[in-house]
Amino acid sequence: TYVIAQPCVDVKDRACVDECPVDCIYEGPRKLYINPDECVDCGACESVCPVEAIFYEDDLPDEWSGYRTADREVFAATGAPGGASAAGPLPLDHPTVVDEPVRVG
Ligand code: F3S
Ligand code: F3S
Repeated sequence: TYVIAQPCVDVKDRACVDECPVDCIYEGPRKLYINPDECVDCGACESVCPVEAIFYEDDLPDEWSGYRTADREVFAATGAPGGASAAGPLPLDHPTVVDEPVRVG
């Protein structure tokens, strides 16, 4: 699956959402999250993110290793919500995101 790493935190450009054919990119308070049970690995989101936050999980840079399982773990609590448009925003961020300093500017 693909994952969304630290560059998305507090940026949330959302270009990826418009690109995803299966509506599996969900918005949290500070970052967006790809549901691994719904993602079909098409890769369309990866190239449109202006801050290059999206990686195939095996290609995630080591500096952001905390993000390898963050997206998956967020959905462990909620299950597969059945499409981001219908589900609406997620109520909480993953602890890895909560712990990031607030990005300013
Ligand atoms: Fe975030 Fe990039 Fe999508 S900043 S919301 S991963 S386009
Ligand atoms: Fe959607 Fe990106 Fe997966 S566009 S299907 S989240 S690889």
